[in-house]
Amino acid sequence: MRVSGSKNAALPIIAASILNGGLTELHNVPNISDIKIMLQILEKLGCKIEHDSDKIVINSKDINSFEIPADLMHKMRSSVSIVGALIGRFKNCTFTYPGGCDIGKRPIDLHLKAFEKLGVNVRMKETNIRCIAEEMKPSEIILDFPSVGATENIMLASIFIDGVTIIKNAAKEPEIEDLQNMLNKMGANIKGAGSDMIEIIGVDHLEDVSYRVMPDRIEAGTLLCAVAANNGSIKLINAEPRHMEKTLDKLKECGCNISIEKDQILLKAPEKLSNVDIETEPYPGFPTDMQSIFVATLIQSDGISSMEENIFENRYKYVSELRKMGVNIIQEERKIKITGEKNIKATNLKAMDLRGGAALVIAALQAKGISEISNIEYILRGYDKLDEKLRKLGAKIKVEEGE
Ligand code: UD1
Repeated sequence: MRVSGSKNAALPIIAASILNGGLTELHNVPNISDIKIMLQILEKLGCKIEHDSDKIVINSKDINSFEIPADLMHKMRSSVSIVGALIGRFKNCTFTYPGGCDIGKRPIDLHLKAFEKLGVNVRMKETNIRCIAEEMKPSEIILDFPSVGATENIMLASIFIDGVTIIKNAAKEPEIEDLQNMLNKMGANIKGAGSDMIEIIGVDHLEDVSYRVMPDRIEAGTLLCAVAANNGSIKLINAEPRHMEKTLDKLKECGCNISIEKDQILLKAPEKLSNVDIETEPYPGFPTDMQSIFVATLIQSDGISSMEENIFENRYKYVSELRKMGVNIIQEERKIKITGEKNIKATNLKAMDLRGGAALVIAALQAKGISEISNIEYILRGYDKLDEKLRKLGAKIKVEEGE
């Protein structure tokens, strides 16, 4: 089973195509609705785009608008990385608060504070935010929390600033390293992504670029979990096991037999999964995006497992749906306890966010009978042909027309 390109790497990389004022050719881009929204925003700004399967060519030469359309901005939080790219190239951007999955407060205060430190004038008027700068200046920015989006936005905004911009307490997620690699291939001079300190040494121009997006570690983890929860076995190819250490460790702790060979991961599930205790943390800790997916897998575990969500405060909405299936879950603020239950019942379920929706799919695969999941547009935001991939693994799943 081939893993698709990473959604969370591709989104800021697509925004980065604004910076070179020329051609960006991207490969291994997942075919999902979040990417389509990102491309629609770029088109509205004046970019020319060719999109063919997992290849996208963007020409950002003729950008003629610095205003991100509010309707598209509302659809997706990661549209906020376009702000950093427009500031980086034009020192000018108007936008509204971004939308996306409702999994917590998700403010953008860290992004805005950082832009101000770089010399950007940030003005808020009703629902609009206007960022404009005469001249930008390098700075040392210490993030209060290692925010992925803020780290990426500072990298994008500071590419052309004369001098050295430093980000301390930077997020260390592999997607940030992928963004650094793409920007450096364009001619930027960035060091340190993957560690908690990143240095951006200003350059005066960027070139055309061709770049291959890294594999999606969350999609890979989802497929492994789907198989682990259903006594199966799987061979993933085009994966990056180095990015998945905590997820793989926890699957091993559950009793899965895992072997790794370069970009391949082989998993064989045990008869019965063991219970585990997990807490989400910034990378290299256990990823918050795998939280719901792992909980749905632990339905098949022996005994009581626990999960603590430390990144987003509202990421347990799927729990009430699992309870409808007969799953015993107790929630105490950020921590839940789940008791293994072999026989859960099929029922009608509602996806309420992307990863919570994927968790419902994994739960429904375990239930005897037919479960119907509505609101699957959330799931389609982040998974490229999930139904087709699961069918290949033996699942009985179909997407109804009109969904
Ligand atoms: C990115 C990922 C998302 C993942 C998350 C954490 C993309 C497109 N999305 O989201 O899938 O779940 O990282 O790994 O890459 N925060 C603030 N102020 C800010 C920014 C963030 O308080 O200005 C808080 C958030 O509310 C949250 C925490 O910091 O509680 C982490 O957010 P952040 O790392 O910024 O996540 P995203 O970049 O939105």
